[in-house]
Amino acid sequence: MQRVAASDEVRAGEMFSTTLDGTKLLLSRVDGKACAVIDKCTHLGMPMRKGSFEGTVITCPFHGSRFDIQTGENLDWVTGVMGVKMPQWTCKLIGLGKTPAPLTTLPVEERDGSVYAQLPSNSA
Ligand code: FES
Repeated sequence: MQRVAASDEVRAGEMFSTTLDGTKLLLSRVDGKACAVIDKCTHLGMPMRKGSFEGTVITCPFHGSRFDIQTGENLDWVTGVMGVKMPQWTCKLIGLGKTPAPLTTLPVEERDGSVYAQLPSNSA
């Protein structure tokens, strides 16, 4: 595990963006526990740090896919373009045949005022 943040930088209801070995991460705190995902939307691999964040849900700024930051679960898949909702047939086109997939979650530990995370071995 490697240090990725100070504990007080990772707050409930907010995303904290950082990098670990060149991989961009998003961290937050859910039920008092720090959590981390790789900042890479599973639709087209775009970064999601500029997306909206509400409760535990990240909305991708590009096509509106939504994910739970704690579990990585996909909650909604390709809903529009740059915040503009589109009809279902258009969303299917934008989806380019990709099927919904969860974000990659990381094991996280917290001790001595710091948050530590570990990348999956295949994340390079
Ligand atoms: S890149 Fe995130 S929904 Fe398309």
